[in-house]
Amino acid sequence: MSNTVLKALACALALGITSAIQAADPIIIKFSHVVAEHTPKGQGALLFKKLAEERLPGKVRVEVYPNSSLFGDGKEMEALLLGDVQLIAPSLAKFEQYTKQLQLFDLPFLFNDIQAVDRFQRSPEGQALLKSMESKGITGLGYWHNGMKQLSANKPLRTPRDARGLKFRVQASAVLEEQFKAVRANPRKMAFAEVYQGLQTGVVNGAENPWSNIYSQKMHEVQKYITESNHGILDYMLITNTRFWNGLPPDVRSELDKIVEEVTREVNTQADALNQGDKQRIIEAKTSEIIELTPEQRNAWREAMKPVWRKFEAEIGPDLIKAADAANQPR
Ligand code: LMR
Repeated sequence: MSNTVLKALACALALGITSAIQAADPIIIKFSHVVAEHTPKGQGALLFKKLAEERLPGKVRVEVYPNSSLFGDGKEMEALLLGDVQLIAPSLAKFEQYTKQLQLFDLPFLFNDIQAVDRFQRSPEGQALLKSMESKGITGLGYWHNGMKQLSANKPLRTPRDARGLKFRVQASAVLEEQFKAVRANPRKMAFAEVYQGLQTGVVNGAENPWSNIYSQKMHEVQKYITESNHGILDYMLITNTRFWNGLPPDVRSELDKIVEEVTREVNTQADALNQGDKQRIIEAKTSEIIELTPEQRNAWREAMKPVWRKFEAEIGPDLIKAADAANQPR
C-alpha cells in the first residue's frame, strides 16, 4: 500500500473515531430560572433533570441553574433564542415582547382560583397559546403553576385607597403596571433578583407574589403586612428553542416530551400545597401580619382594578378573555 493510501486510511479512521465520540456525547440541556429550588418551578426543573438523566442515560445531561445564577430576567429569553440555554420557564407576565395574547394571564381578578387557571390552560384555547410564538422560534411545552398572588407592603392594605402613592415592584408587564396605576399606586418594573433588596432599602414599598416566592426570597422579613388578596396569578410557560427541540433525535425527543408531560402534572399537583406550606411558615415566622379581606373589601379591589381589562381587550382578543372567564365555571 502506498504511503498516500495509508495516510488517507489513517485519516478516515481518525475521523470515524471522532464522529463516534461525538455521537456518544450527551446532549446538554441547560435549564435556567430565577427562583429558589424549593418552589414549584425549582422543584420542576430538578425533577426534569432526574427523569431525563435516568431514562436517557448517556444521551442527555441536564444542568439546572436556579436563582438567576446563569441568566436573570431580561436576559433569559434572549439566551434561549441564541441557544445559550435550552429550557426556561418565565412567568406568563414576561412574554409581552413576543406575544400580546399572554397578557391575558395578568388581568386582575380574571381567575377565581388555581383550578380555574388549570381548566383554561388545558382548554383548546389555552393549549393553542403554547404554539403562539413558534414563528419567533419559541415553543411552549407546558404550563407550570406557581399560584395566586398576594399583596405585601409596609403598611396594611385593606382597601384600594391604602395603596395610594405606594411604590410597588412589578414584573415586566404593561398590564401589571396599569393594575397598580388603577389604585393610584406607582408601579416600578424590577428584575426578580433585585426585589428583596428593593424592598429592604425602600426603593419600593410593596410587591405582589405567591406565597412560595415571598417565603423563598425572605420577602416576609422586609414586609410588615401581607394581604391575602388572591387578586391574580403567577404561572409559567415552560419553553424551549423551537429549532433545538425539533432537531433532537426522534427517540430522545419523544422521551423528553413524555417526561415534560409527567413533570408538568407533578408540578401542577404539588404547587398549591407548596404555597400553602410556605404561607404557614410565614405565619410561624411572625415577621408579617397576614391580613384577610372581607368579601366587601376584596370586592372593592376587584372594582378598582377590573377596568384594566378594557385597556388590553383589543390586544389580547375578547374571545380569549371570554374563554378564560368561562373556565371559572367548573365543568
Ligand atoms: C417574578 O419576577 O416575580 C416572578 O416571575 C419570578 C418567578 O419566576 O416566579
